[in-house]
Amino acid sequence: MTTLTKPAVRPANPNFSSGPCSKRPGWSLDALADAPLGRSHRAKVGKAKLAEAIELTREVLQVPADYRIGIVPASDTGAVEMALWSILGARGVDIMAWESFGAGWVTDVVKQLKLPDVRKIEAPYGDLPDLGQLDFDRDVIFTWNGTTSGVRVPNGDFIPADREGLTICDATSAAFAQNLDFAKLDVVTFSWQKVLGGEGAHGVLILSPRAVERLESYSPAWPLPKIFRMTKGGKIIEGIFKGETINTPSMLCVEDYLDALKWGKQIGGLDALMARADKNFTVLDQFVEQTPWIDHLAKAPATRSNTSVCLTIVDSDVLALDDDAQAAFAKGIVSALDKEGVAFDIGSYRDAPAGLRIWAGATVEAADLQALLPWLDWAFEAQKEKLKAAA
Ligand SMILES: Cc1ncc(COP(=O)(O)O)c(C=O)c1O
Repeated sequence: MTTLTKPAVRPANPNFSSGPCSKRPGWSLDALADAPLGRSHRAKVGKAKLAEAIELTREVLQVPADYRIGIVPASDTGAVEMALWSILGARGVDIMAWESFGAGWVTDVVKQLKLPDVRKIEAPYGDLPDLGQLDFDRDVIFTWNGTTSGVRVPNGDFIPADREGLTICDATSAAFAQNLDFAKLDVVTFSWQKVLGGEGAHGVLILSPRAVERLESYSPAWPLPKIFRMTKGGKIIEGIFKGETINTPSMLCVEDYLDALKWGKQIGGLDALMARADKNFTVLDQFVEQTPWIDHLAKAPATRSNTSVCLTIVDSDVLALDDDAQAAFAKGIVSALDKEGVAFDIGSYRDAPAGLRIWAGATVEAADLQALLPWLDWAFEAQKEKLKAAA
């Protein structure tokens, strides 16, 4: 048992998971009261809700008027794979990966689609690959914010406006928190469960006019399941981008997404959402600056995520341990905080280096992160006591 005094204040909301993320401040089940449950999603009322979700996405996320926005099955993964399977194969591919989700898309492209001309441009956890290696005459695939390492691209400046290939961007933990440069992006995907604190199950797929051109002029050599098909007779199925979903969506999840979008709009839209994430990140960043035992996993400051903030333990006694013992030490912190009910789900991702991952997206309150900080110190000291006792 630790002899350390527990901090007096607890976060009012201990939900710091990196997905599904905390619901917006003030959320309750009452927010879903207007969901058209038990009705067809193709009835007027259902279609209107889906169309409203698309329109509000365009407004709050500031998606250009000539880009199409579709609600698709299987969350962000569904949206990404729909794009990969439908678009790739027309030219060579450059694919970047620097953490687990990006690595998953590499597996799709190399091992499943088995494309013959693929260049993998990779970096270890904490780093961003050399963006200068990318060849934009080819199709380029990347994750805007690597959720499991907390490393993001700083902006879209590395992408030329006059590229020949298409850019396919998994933006699930960046959308609504980081400035997505749509002019540089041809395919953008995200899921509702991240920055807006919505539910899983549905993905959003955003297509530039050039991406649509590709879909209409190119047919992949492999078969496409119905769930991935966006064209018919060589033409884009426009209905998908007006709310006529390919298959049945959950109108409960749609209602929840609408609630989240309306909250985002009401607090000031994209700028306000991004500012909330930035402010949250600053709370954690200042703690890291002042605290000798913890550091960012992301090495370069410009690449540090303002949503999935990944932290590593750099105390010399801990670094002297082997990998398993370091992981156990970090897990000890995570489970002590969970047990106290002050922070849920802040362990690093299962494939990532041991440490903490604290979500700082827009639905999290800075005051809750502030209240968490003394608890991080408390849990660290308690683990150190245990370590000493065991020595
Ligand atoms: C970067 C990234 N891509 C893809 C996914 C998978 O998202 P989903 O489970 O919504 O399909 C996640 C989930 O955390 C993610 O962070």
